[in-house]
Amino acid sequence: MTLFDGPILALETSCDETSAAVVVGRKVVSNAVSSQIELHKKWGGVVPEAAARAHVEALLPIIEEALSSSSLELTDIKAIAVTNRPGLVGALSVGVTAAKALAFARRLAIVGIHHLEGHLFSVFGGGDEVSFPHVALIVSGGHTELVRVRGIGKYTVLGQTLDDAAGEAFDKGARLMGLGYPGGRAIQEAAKGGDPKRYPLPRGLSGDTCDFSFSGLKTAVLRLVEKEGDRLSVPDAAASLQETIVSVLSQRALRAAEDSAAEVLTLVGGVAANEALRERISRACQTKGIAFVTPPIDLCTDNAAMIGLAASFRLAAGERHGHDLDALPNAPLPGLEL
Ligand code: KG4
Ligand code: ZN
Repeated sequence: MTLFDGPILALETSCDETSAAVVVGRKVVSNAVSSQIELHKKWGGVVPEAAARAHVEALLPIIEEALSSSSLELTDIKAIAVTNRPGLVGALSVGVTAAKALAFARRLAIVGIHHLEGHLFSVFGGGDEVSFPHVALIVSGGHTELVRVRGIGKYTVLGQTLDDAAGEAFDKGARLMGLGYPGGRAIQEAAKGGDPKRYPLPRGLSGDTCDFSFSGLKTAVLRLVEKEGDRLSVPDAAASLQETIVSVLSQRALRAAEDSAAEVLTLVGGVAANEALRERISRACQTKGIAFVTPPIDLCTDNAAMIGLAASFRLAAGERHGHDLDALPNAPLPGLEL
């Protein structure tokens, strides 16, 4: 498929990363990210008001960084892409307002991108061949979904979480174990050298399903921490939690791929940065003869490059938004069939 011809400046401010990127077609030319982790650490999670204010401070320097490391000028940019949904509305508004101002001042096309569509299209940034249709496992702080992707805006949900997202299970587990925020990476590090069989934890739904349930896991970790008290081995608990989540995610992803006779399985979203998960799904795909594609780690956690990649497809399909583009806290994936 021919993609939009010309450099796209993409912005992402939906949660706690301020990011700007320059993308040309499938090529990520630059991807600058400023994380608010240090800011939110003291509260143990993202505080929406503080996030919005921090985006205001970080956005212009990040845009300058993305442009200067691309060796392009603002005058070379041919279109603006921005995450406009879903997310924290105050945080989203910062990116959307800046995008509209840039598009208006430079008379450029603007396109609003759904954050999850960005994650889905992040696979194109790693240089691997990815064909349609394929099955994607999206695992982030707010989402755990298995989606059949037939093209841009052509999605079918094959499975989803009935309660907590996989990222939430990592984050809440980490908080209970005293590992702080954000939890996924902390659990991954703490689990190194831990015994994943030491504390058996519930896997949620059983039987022939592609859905997930992680709320029982959270409760079980709470009970475990209370019961063990000072005796708790944090490495063993972290390894047990990671093993449970990784095993459930890879089993369901493979089932969804096999059920829909997919030739390609992709793994995207912040939790896709997890090394154990990447390895487990990669090995399972090899056994089954399914091609496995996951982007480099910096394109898994929130970033603007993935928004630019999705925009390459949407702009090529002729999509443009007006200056009335809005920030929406909740919105389904565009073109989603249940
Ligand atoms: O996609 P993302 O950056 O933001 C959302 O759209 O939610 O995902 C954030 C989630 C958090 O729950 C974080 O703990 C998790 O991704 N995460 C990880 C790892 N790195 C980030 N989870 C497991 N292992 C990691 N290495
Ligand atoms: Zn995300």
